[in-house]
Amino acid sequence: MKNIRCNSFLRGVCFASFFVNVIYFFIFVFVVFPPKNEIPNFEKSSGMYPVKNDRLISEKEFTVGLPPVPEFTQCEKVNDDEKFDCFPRGIVTQNLCENRGCCWSAVSNKVGSVPPCYYPRNYTLYKYENITSTDAGTVGYMKNVHLSPYPEDIQCLRIDINYETDSRVHVKIYDPIQTRFEPPFPYVPKVKGYSRNPLYEVKTDKNKIGFTVVRKSSKKAIFDSLGVGGFTFANQFLQLSAKLSTKFIYGLGQHRNDFLLSTDWYTRTLFNRDQTPAEDMNLYGSHPFFLGVEEGGDSFGVFLLNSNAMDVILQPSPAVTYRTIGGILNFYIFLGPTPEEVIQQYTEVVGKPMLPPYWSLGFHLCRWGYNSLENTKTIMEKNLAAGIPLDVQWNDIDYMEDRKDLLYDKKNFAGLSKFVDDLHEQGMHYVVIIDPGISNVEAPGTYFPYDDAVAMDVLVKNNTGDILLGKVWNTETTAFLDFFNPDIVDYWKNSILRQQKEQFKYDGLWIDMNEPSDAPNGSIYGCPDDVLEHPPYVPSVSGGQLSVNTICMTAKHTSGNHYNLHNLYSLAEGIVTNYAISQVTGKRPFIISRATFSGQGKYTGTWGGDNISTWKEMARSIPYILNSNLFGMPLSGEDICGFQKETTVALCQRWMQLGAFYPFSRNHNSINEKPQDPVSLGPDVVNSSLKALTIRYTLLPYLYTLFWLAHINGDTVARPLFFEFPSDVKTYDVSTQFLWGPALHIIPVLTEGATKVDAYIPKGRWFDYYTGNEIISKGERIRLPAPLDTIPLLLRGGYVISTQEPALNTVISRNKNMGLLIIPNEKNEAKGFLFWDDGDLIDPYEKNEYNFLEFYLTENKVINKVVKCNYIEQTNLGNVDIFGVKTTVNSVMINNVNWKNFKYLPDSKKLIIEDLNIDMCQTFVIQWT
Ligand code: NOJ
Repeated sequence: MKNIRCNSFLRGVCFASFFVNVIYFFIFVFVVFPPKNEIPNFEKSSGMYPVKNDRLISEKEFTVGLPPVPEFTQCEKVNDDEKFDCFPRGIVTQNLCENRGCCWSAVSNKVGSVPPCYYPRNYTLYKYENITSTDAGTVGYMKNVHLSPYPEDIQCLRIDINYETDSRVHVKIYDPIQTRFEPPFPYVPKVKGYSRNPLYEVKTDKNKIGFTVVRKSSKKAIFDSLGVGGFTFANQFLQLSAKLSTKFIYGLGQHRNDFLLSTDWYTRTLFNRDQTPAEDMNLYGSHPFFLGVEEGGDSFGVFLLNSNAMDVILQPSPAVTYRTIGGILNFYIFLGPTPEEVIQQYTEVVGKPMLPPYWSLGFHLCRWGYNSLENTKTIMEKNLAAGIPLDVQWNDIDYMEDRKDLLYDKKNFAGLSKFVDDLHEQGMHYVVIIDPGISNVEAPGTYFPYDDAVAMDVLVKNNTGDILLGKVWNTETTAFLDFFNPDIVDYWKNSILRQQKEQFKYDGLWIDMNEPSDAPNGSIYGCPDDVLEHPPYVPSVSGGQLSVNTICMTAKHTSGNHYNLHNLYSLAEGIVTNYAISQVTGKRPFIISRATFSGQGKYTGTWGGDNISTWKEMARSIPYILNSNLFGMPLSGEDICGFQKETTVALCQRWMQLGAFYPFSRNHNSINEKPQDPVSLGPDVVNSSLKALTIRYTLLPYLYTLFWLAHINGDTVARPLFFEFPSDVKTYDVSTQFLWGPALHIIPVLTEGATKVDAYIPKGRWFDYYTGNEIISKGERIRLPAPLDTIPLLLRGGYVISTQEPALNTVISRNKNMGLLIIPNEKNEAKGFLFWDDGDLIDPYEKNEYNFLEFYLTENKVINKVVKCNYIEQTNLGNVDIFGVKTTVNSVMINNVNWKNFKYLPDSKKLIIEDLNIDMCQTFVIQWT
């Protein structure tokens, strides 16, 4: 990239909106006729000085360009917690540190955590040429005045601060002269106009680089980057730090650490990697988004829309530092103020989650290594015979012919098409795996996926323009589909169509290995020695190199280098697959993706990858689910009973109970492990699974409604306690319990042998799901019984939950009666919703073909409100259970007519009204005395 000075004629120009076009014209002229006075060209310089092991800098840069050695006073008053690391890689000495213009203090209270080399207070590499604020925001231009220790500082930067909505500010810092990479998706809808009454104020200062977002109501600076840390914008090293208003930080996935992130000099690295989930590792997905919750409950979110590999560092101040190796700094900051509102605001930017088909909320059975259709069938039928509700049977790569995408093994899986048709007859569904790498060694004319891919030119290339070859599951080598190529849409749709027509009619796709994973690290020939493969700063990726377990960074997609697009690969595949399946089947797509990026939830669900069958991993699955919900991907689950290593009866018994409450509930197992479906593990696992899954199936209308609210509003489905109790600090680090929506509290047993669980129950009125017994909590830990076959569940006062009679699968249960659980709060009030449609229709909202009902309890009366009933299938109310009815009930009236079929249970104080036959789309009144 050429270094161009920030043009002085820009100085002093007012950048209010009507001047912008004029400025664009000047910039155009400026780009076409760049001024001659360029900064020294590193390549031409002689005399290189070492700065750190892997980088040399020019003499001129070393002696002239770097910021001056700071004066003592600029270093002395920096608290340890507020020291921002100026030398994040390599062995640092005082000399090297000070040559960067930074402060040195090797002795600190917390050796090994506080950086010895840190930025002085007034460190700056940029100066404003001008900065102008209007009601709509701020525009500023800054020029580079000192060189950073990284090559190719961008000489001119523009900052745009836009008050996009009342609760969202957009801050973009970029090179106004030479376009840099920006992720093509998630597509962020453009906002018209600007907020006239924002919840925030954004401060800038012409003498300091950065910006501060202040919440007007509390006057707290939630994100303060003004003059903080060492703002850098070099070609392959972009850094911005900010002080935060809270140390309660969540998100920055995908990771396997505590849900509440540490701020003790903690680095989260974001770079999609095929990596067994383990602490402090970059895993399959990247989500540069975090949620901050201040004591008292005010919450905010920060999203950096940047897909390059990055480190995000949290330190005790509390503060955050972003270090990304490409793109631009493109921040969206959300003001909430509740955590749930932050997620709604975030998903306005990255896309609201898709609505899953109803059947996909049932239970799924899978394993790698059924090895034959016969075995798949036998295991599935054993489980069905034991009464285990089962909606979806899956097959892994062992169903393929020689592990080749889009072909099935005609010997071991002979009769697959009939099997799938039979499943459909029974109301079940079938999902298969597909990988983004395809075999490239088949004889021409024998393997259509490769032949077509070559003919349509939709394969990823290497730096010399040949098809890049790696190795995934294929017997020999693998070529990778380029999901950024516009022609891939037809290719993928036609391939899926052909497989469906010629082979079997699956209902959903499992897109795996899409980090993308590649065993030989880069390609079978390695990767070229290039600055994209070895950037001056390598984030703390597992394996130490970017191309470990994936394709080369120099690999070419239609829209650019893999270096920039790597983290977006799965999102591209998700978008294309979602479109292709909906075109082919004409039904709502169901896709589960292993790798993910911000915005993925709009197209696919996800699962946690290759977890291990241990108690610790089971517990870790809860933060995973909660994080997925924070990231706008509510359809998420982990492999129930664990994927790698052998599970045990005790573990699987508890894990089936917990997994019954994953939004996406699938038991999956690795090849060569013993079968771990409920029946294969024996009666204890069967009984627990039956009990928990029966509850899941009973509550599916509630779960589906939560998914609808996620789809329409961006709500979470599975949520942490603090989302509902944001002012209760004691909920902030609870990640062993979670909620479905606001009303169902799930308290799994996570320790072997335990039959009781001590749970934190936030203040309020709760009811035991099983007994109906009331629990009044002051906001305290309460011991709950948890016999081995039971997962403790509490219902929260104030809500109405819709239910349906469970059955072996959802097609059967959807013909049965619905029900309502009425759970009163302290004021004897409750409310709830039901969304209902055919469960398979694409875009029910846009097509306006659905029912939406509201239910209200006041004292001794339940009514419904019909908001919309456009879906013609009748929704029949069969029974209503009212909890916490303190006095004996003598009579029940339905629409003012006496109803005899009810019972009052004096011990649990529950009123059960049965055998109703009410069309829920007609208004009704249920009363009791
Ligand atoms: C890796 C996936 O994570 C796992 O779930 C799957 O079983 C294997 N690939 C084989 O396809």
